[in-house]
Amino acid sequence: MGTAGETVRLLLGGKEYELPVRIGTEGNRAIDVGQLYAMTGHITLDEGYANTGTTMSTICYVDGEKGVLRYRGYRIEALAEQCDFTETAYLLIFGELPTADQLEDFRGNIRRHTLLHEGMKTIYDGFPPYAHPMAILSAVVGALAIYDKEFNDPRDVTQRRLAIYRMLAKMPTIAAFSYKRSIGQPYIYPQNHLTYCQNFLNMMFAVPSEKYSMDVDFVDALNLLLILHADHGQNCSTSTVRMVGSSNVNLFSTISAGVCALWGALHGGANEACIDMLETILADGRNLGKYIDKAKDPNDPFRLMGFGHRVYKNYDPRAKVCKSICGRLLDRFAGDDPMFELAKELEEIALSDPYFVQRKLFPNIDFYSGIIYRILGIPKEMFTVLFALGRLPGWIAHWREMHLSPDKRIHRPRQLYTGHTEREIVPLIKR
Ligand code: SDX
Repeated sequence: MGTAGETVRLLLGGKEYELPVRIGTEGNRAIDVGQLYAMTGHITLDEGYANTGTTMSTICYVDGEKGVLRYRGYRIEALAEQCDFTETAYLLIFGELPTADQLEDFRGNIRRHTLLHEGMKTIYDGFPPYAHPMAILSAVVGALAIYDKEFNDPRDVTQRRLAIYRMLAKMPTIAAFSYKRSIGQPYIYPQNHLTYCQNFLNMMFAVPSEKYSMDVDFVDALNLLLILHADHGQNCSTSTVRMVGSSNVNLFSTISAGVCALWGALHGGANEACIDMLETILADGRNLGKYIDKAKDPNDPFRLMGFGHRVYKNYDPRAKVCKSICGRLLDRFAGDDPMFELAKELEEIALSDPYFVQRKLFPNIDFYSGIIYRILGIPKEMFTVLFALGRLPGWIAHWREMHLSPDKRIHRPRQLYTGHTEREIVPLIKR
């Protein structure tokens, strides 16, 4: 966006400097410090980038105070209601909702690349049975840079587009194969007459010896969850994708790095950590009060997984959609599962306890998504893999936007050095 001609003045060492103010399409404002170091010899310092914009982007808008999330200007609630995941992926990556022909062409380009090179199956054989699916996912996605090396140049428009189709197509297959490997069942190959979500569920839960009929509510729930996870601005894993991709490495290695960042319990790993937390509380005599106290104790590292958010200081709009999906599925499938009862009680407490209310620690998307995945029969270790499946179009969209930008440069932040000043080496015999 252009500046509005507005500037801020900086008084430094008796000198006055002017910095431009950038204004986004939603009125969000930024002080452009692009010339700060050249002008003043000073850098900014902002641990965790809580106050720092690393780029301008047209992909996703989040208003944390109002609980608003839009992909390319469309509200997440409307996309969840009216679109499917491949349509949303197209929107995120190419910037507009597709026509029927564009969508069919996009789906066709994905369908024809769902198979993995047969040699890639041997990679799985090298993993021990206890290998975490996120470790497998990052390793096998990274191996696409070997098997699909003819699509490795991000500056070549054709290679870039084909790498995008192949990455979208193969992620569900790679994910499902890692699950089958972990339970010792044969791999189920993609069936290209199925939709993206149907194909994934079939590869996850079908067995060669029986016909697999999938519940339409499961397919719908998965489709919604993938849409809700598809993008979220400059979150940890997307910023990782931009950082790694800025070196002009191939898309596959870039996505592999995003998978690694997402695995962390503070980020995409929170859905699995949330179920772990609920299991721990159940195993500990369902002593909810003890864990609420632990979460509130500044000296205790325990956090309520699935609560709080760096940006949303109101309610995570995705959590609202997730909560309604959760309710519908619980009515049909939950029975008297004690974990669901516990989750509802935990939510009620957190939404009324002053500690959480004052810090605006509302349930985030990871609180409900873990519960939904559990109902769908997805094993806990695969929850973050599903998050990666959903976030893939967002990662790709940011990677493509960066490569299309005339201002693209390799990401290379500076630091404030606080270590030793220069000193002489004391010879070993004297140390
Ligand atoms: C995702 O960035 C994204 O967009 C992420 C994501 C996406 O789509 O990509 O939305 C997906 O990662 C959602 C978040 C999933 N993570 C969790 O559910 C893990 C539990 N949440 C917390 O770890 C925490 O809330 C974070 C990491 C999500 C946010 O951390 P911040 O913004 O750095 O907040 P903070 O640690 O500075 O906390 C502020 C205060 C602190 O207390 P005080 O020092 O003020 O006394 O709130 C407390 C924190 O101790 N706090 C919590 C808490 N989260 C924050 N206390 C108990 N339980 C929690 N969950």
